[in-house]
Formats: sequence, C-alpha cells, structure tokens
Amino acid sequence: MSLCKRRGFIFQGSEIYGGLAGTWDYGIYGSELAHNIKDLWWKHFVREQEDVYGITTSAMMSEPVWEASGHLEGFTDPMVECKKCKSRFRADQIADKKKCSVCGGELGPEKVFNLLFPVDIGSTKGETNRAYLRGEIAQGMFTNFRNVLDSSRVRVPFGLAQVGRAYRNEIAPRDFLFRVREFDLMEFEYFTRENEWADHFERWRKEMWRWIERVGIDKNAVHELEVAPEDRAHYSKRTIDFEFDFPFGRKELYGLAYRTDHDLKKHMEHSGIDMRYADPETQERYIPHVVEPTFGHGRTVLAVLLSAYTEDELGGEKRVYLKLKSDVAPVKVAVFPLLKNKPTLVEKAGEIYRTLKKEINGIVEFDDNGNIGKRYRRQDEIGTPFCVTVDFDTIEKDDTVTVRDRDTGKQERVKIGDLVQKIKAT
Ligand code: GAP
Repeated sequence: MSLCKRRGFIFQGSEIYGGLAGTWDYGIYGSELAHNIKDLWWKHFVREQEDVYGITTSAMMSEPVWEASGHLEGFTDPMVECKKCKSRFRADQIADKKKCSVCGGELGPEKVFNLLFPVDIGSTKGETNRAYLRGEIAQGMFTNFRNVLDSSRVRVPFGLAQVGRAYRNEIAPRDFLFRVREFDLMEFEYFTRENEWADHFERWRKEMWRWIERVGIDKNAVHELEVAPEDRAHYSKRTIDFEFDFPFGRKELYGLAYRTDHDLKKHMEHSGIDMRYADPETQERYIPHVVEPTFGHGRTVLAVLLSAYTEDELGGEKRVYLKLKSDVAPVKVAVFPLLKNKPTLVEKAGEIYRTLKKEINGIVEFDDNGNIGKRYRRQDEIGTPFCVTVDFDTIEKDDTVTVRDRDTGKQERVKIGDLVQKIKAT
C-alpha cells in the first residue's frame, strides 16, 4: 500500500477531507495499470473470441429491473449495529456477536441489509423517481438481450460482455481494493441452450485460468472452490469461486456461475417483452440459459500487484521491483541520457524518446533526473520492463544504446534501429 501511494498508483478517495470509506482513486501509474488490465481483458474475452460481443450500458437502472432480477429482495448481507456507537458490522464476519469491537457496547439484533444504492431522480421535490446504481453490471446484458437479438445477427450460443462500474453499499469495506463500495467489473453472460450449459461452463473455466496467467497473477496462489448451495447467490445453480491467497487470507477473486434462465425469464414476466430466442434452423423458441464468468477489476489490480511485488538484491543492494507483464506495465520503456549536462546526450535521448513514443503502444518516459542508479530504482518500483540509456558510445562510436532488463538488471547494447522490435517482442 505504501508503494502504491508513494509511486502514485492508488490513493484513498476524498483523502484531503479525511477519506471516504470504501473508495479509492487511481493516480497516474495506477490509471495506466488499470486501463491496461481492462484493455487486455477486452482483448482476451471479446476481440479474440468468435462468439462474444461487447456492450456498454447505464450504471443507473430503474427500480423494476432490480425487482425482476430479485436483487431488491435477495442482494443482502446480514448486519448488526452497535446500540451505543452505531458502528455496523457484517454479522457473518465477526466472532463476537454480542459485543461491539469499536466501543465495547451491546450489539443489536441481526438484520437483513440490502446492498443496492438507491438514487432519487428528478428536480421537483415529491416527484422523484426511484432508481438504483447497478449492484452488478450483468443486468445491462439481460435487459438489452432483445435489443441485441433484433439489431444484430448473433446466434445462440454467444456471449455479451461489459466492463463498467458497479456500486454496493458494503456494510464493512476493508482490505484496500478488496472490498469497496464502488468498483469496476469485467464480465460476460454466455447464452446457451439448457442442455449445453455444462460444456460451456467447462470451456470458460479453462479460459479463466488462461486469463489468470496472461494478466500476470501467480497461478499457484489461485484455488478453485465449489460453492455450497446455501452460499450461492440467489440466481445461481452452480458457482465456482476462484480464490486468491491475499495477505489477509484466501478470498474470492473471480466467480463462474450457472445462472440458468433465471434473469431472462424474470425480465420477460415483469416487462412483458419476449426474451425467447428463435432458432433460425429449427424454428424453436426458447429462453437461453446463462453461464457467467465474472472478474472484479480492483481485485485483479490487487492480485496483479501482489503477484508482481518482488524484493531482491542487485549489485549488493536491496531493491523492490514490480515484475509486471509488459502488457499491463504502466510504463513500457524509459529513456535516459547518461548525463543531464551533456547536450549531445540529451538531444539524442530526446530523439529516441520521441521515436519510441510514436511506435510503442503505451507510455514511454524520459528521465534525466538524478544519478542513473536512482532512475533505474524508480522504474523498477513501477515495473518498467526496459530502460534505455544513451551514453558516449552511442554518439561517438556505433549508434547503439544500453538496454537494461528490469528483472535481471543485465544490460546489453542494442542498435537504435532494433529498439522498437526488441521492446515490442516482450
Ligand atoms: N454478476 C455477478 C456478480 O456480480 P459477484 O460475486 O457478486 O458476482 C463479482 O461479484 C466480482 O466482483 C467478485 O468475484 C469480486 O471479484 C468483485 N467484487 C464483489 N464485491 C466487491 C467489492 N465490494 N469490492 C470489490 N470487488 C468486489
């Protein structure tokens, strides 16, 4: 957490006013990392698939959506409140159900607490409309199912994917990015015939493991958990959680659920819109069943950072570095002139920096500040895979630069003309 703050990855939300619990803001490098993870996810699960399509829907959704989906009734956690200091706790997460851990006061009876954030829309008092900030982004895929069928040539089986904000009024936000009140979700609903759901469940289960490796999460720290019926969400008939060994315990990272035809059926009943799919070959009309892989974005950022965080010794000195995959690293390459006060070096480094900026898809940094060792350490801490240094040999001898590898600290001389290819190859 301290590295995240010091290097501008993540800050507490509303920090200058004492902070707002359950919210976090991404700084310059954090934003890059966050965007890169979303882009890679979109590439992996939408663009590289032949049968998954992306949509983007509103974060505010009307009350009947949540009535139909069952969230108004079932999207709840058990809560207890201290009679004295009014602190609230998740009843299923505290050992002592009688005494308040904040002030020692007596805890009240267990209540059911709904996690949806209500919003009252409208400018005239007394004439507001109740809506909700979406507690899950999946409902956007279900409520647009008919629109998509009517406006495209998709055929079951197919998936509808989305990356977007979700809001949950968590009783006890905690553990940094792990449990927050506002976060991004990356997920898709895969629509299939009922008798084929189990095959697709297996397909996506394997694909989730491929993603885990691709994004740079330590797969030895990830474990599948078959969720017991009494612990599954109200819409699920089978759920596997992918748990990660966080420093605060083994906890849910991702989920894979078989949602049956619950959502489409309920929306059809409540809205009167026909959610059946008409098979163009057999003319059969049926409500598809759904397999849903879901990925918390903040939890991905956290697991990627934890997997990448490495302490070692280099040249007799202790160092910290982030062993991030090149695809997600905030800075792809940094360019340094060996010395700041030598105009020929600075000029040449500037030239290389501008060329790389045009050619490399991602952030390229220029740094002439402080000694070279310090510049390397700084890039190590933000996970930059390569540092390029322009020195006197570059100018006077052979048009080569040194390229330093983040993980090994080893340097090699590379022709300026070969730099782009070398960086792109990782
Ligand atoms: N559409 C299915 C769905 O929303 P979920 O298990 O309620 O399922 C999906 O949430 C994912 O969102 C989780 O696997 C987790 O990664 C993430 N998540 C859930 N609650 C969260 C919270 N309060 N803060 C951060 N991430 C959360």
